[in-house]
Amino acid sequence: MINTNFTAQLSNTHLLKNQAYIGGEWSDNKKLAMMNVLNPATNKVIGQVPSLEKKHIQKAIKAAKAAQVGWRKTPATQRSIILRKMASLLIKHKQDLALIMTIEQGKSLLEAEAEITYSASFLNWFAEEARRIYGDTIPSPLADRKIIITKEPIGVVAAITPWNFPSAMIARKLGAAIAAGCSILVKPAPQTPFSALVYGKIAELAGLPKGVLSILTGDAITIGGEFSSSNIIRKISFTGSTEVGKLLIKQSASTVKRLSLELGGNAPFIVFSDASIDDAVIGAIQSKYRNSGQTCVCANRIYVHAKIYDEFIKKYIKKVAALKVGNGTDKGVDIGPMIDEAAILKVENQINDAIQKGGEVLLGGSRHELGLNFFSPTILTGANHSMLLANEETFGPLSPIFKFETEEEVIKLANDTNFGLAAYFYARDVGLIWRVSEALEYGMIGVNTGSISTAEAPFGGIKQSGIGREGSKYGLDDYLEIKYMCLAGIDQ
Ligand code: SIN
Repeated sequence: MINTNFTAQLSNTHLLKNQAYIGGEWSDNKKLAMMNVLNPATNKVIGQVPSLEKKHIQKAIKAAKAAQVGWRKTPATQRSIILRKMASLLIKHKQDLALIMTIEQGKSLLEAEAEITYSASFLNWFAEEARRIYGDTIPSPLADRKIIITKEPIGVVAAITPWNFPSAMIARKLGAAIAAGCSILVKPAPQTPFSALVYGKIAELAGLPKGVLSILTGDAITIGGEFSSSNIIRKISFTGSTEVGKLLIKQSASTVKRLSLELGGNAPFIVFSDASIDDAVIGAIQSKYRNSGQTCVCANRIYVHAKIYDEFIKKYIKKVAALKVGNGTDKGVDIGPMIDEAAILKVENQINDAIQKGGEVLLGGSRHELGLNFFSPTILTGANHSMLLANEETFGPLSPIFKFETEEEVIKLANDTNFGLAAYFYARDVGLIWRVSEALEYGMIGVNTGSISTAEAPFGGIKQSGIGREGSKYGLDDYLEIKYMCLAGIDQ
C-alpha cells in the first residue's frame, strides 16, 4: 500500500515502488508481511513495504552470485555507461525523488534536492573511475619471471544504509560496487525504504543486468544476520552507529569478510581568535544544522576562543534564531522534523544533563511549538567535558559552546573522544592551520569551511568512527582485490 496523498503529490509515480527488488524481480507483496513507513513531519503512515524473511534474502544472495559471473567480465566502459544512465535518471526525476525523500525522511525539499544531486555525483564519479582500475608490473628480482598485479572485483557485496541520507549513502556504495564489477545487495533503513527502492527502478531502466542489484526491505537482525553469516558475500559496507558497526565486526568474523564502516562522529568545531567571525558563524550553521543536525559530520562541540567568545555568540544566536522550523515540504523551511521520538529524547537528555552540570540554554532548548518530532534549534553555553554532549554524538539541532584560551588546550579537548570522523576549525594564521590540521585525530578536516562532503574526496574516519574510505579515487579500492601473478618459465 502507498497512501494516495503521497502519490498525488508526485508528477510521475513510476519510480515510487513499495515492492522489494529481489534478484531483478519485484516482490509479490500479497504473500509477504508488511511494515509501515511514517512521515516524521506528521507521524502518519505513508505506505508499507515488505518485511522480508530469510528465504528471500537467500534468494537474492544466490541471484547476486549468479549475476556476478557475467558482471565481472562486462567491460568497464559498459559498466560506466550504465552508471551514467542511472545518474541521469536521478537528475531527470530530481523533483519527484526529493519529494519522496522529504515525505519519508523529513529534511527540507531544498536539502533533499541537493542530496539527489550528491547521489548522482557519486554515480558519475564511479562511472569515470570504473575505467581506471589499473594494475601494475613490478621489477622482478629473478631474470626468468615477471611480477604482474591486476585488480579484480571483490565479489558479492552487501550494503546496509542509514535513514539520514537515504539516497546518497546508497549511491556511494552502489556506485563503487557496480564500477568495480561487483553485484550488490542493499538493505535500506526501515524508516526510508522508498528512496532506496528508486534504485531498483532506475537500474532496470538503465539496463543493469538482473541480479547485480537487489534492494531488500525488512528488519536489521534478519537481513544483517544473513549478510554476515553468508560465505557468498565477500564484503559488507555499513553506514550507521558505532554500536552496530561493532556488532557487524563480531558477526562477520566467522566468514572473514572485508568491512567498510562509516560510523558515528563527534566533530569539534573550533573558532580561533584570528578567524573571520562572520564566516565561522555561517560555517557552524552549515555544519550543525544540515539535516536538522542529523549527520555523522555535524559539528557536535563548538569551541570558541575567549577573546571572540561574546561576539561569536551574539552573531550565532541571531542567525540560528532566524532558521525556520517546519514540515520539509513547506516553502522556506530550514529545519525539518527529527526522524522520531527516540531522536528527540536523546537531545533532551543531553540538554537536561548539561543544565545540571552548569550549562545555560540561550536559545531553544525544548520541543518546537509544532509538536510531534519538531525540536527548536538550541544554543547552550558553558559547556564542559563532564557533560554527555561532549562524549556522545548528539544527532540533533543542539549547539553546545565551549570557551577556550590556548591552542594546546583546545587540541586536547578536541581529541578527547573515541570518535575520529570530521573536525573543523576557523583561523587565518598559516602556521597554526598546519599545526592544528596535523594535531587533530580525525579522518577529515574542514579549514575555514563547514561543508566538506564531495564525491571527489575520501569520506571516512579513524578511531571508533570507522574503517575505509568512500568516494574519491580511494573509494574503489574497498571493492577490489589485488591479484599477484608470478609469470615464470618464459624465454627471454
Ligand atoms: C553521513 O552523515 O553519514 C554522511 C554525510 C555526508 O556525506 O556528508
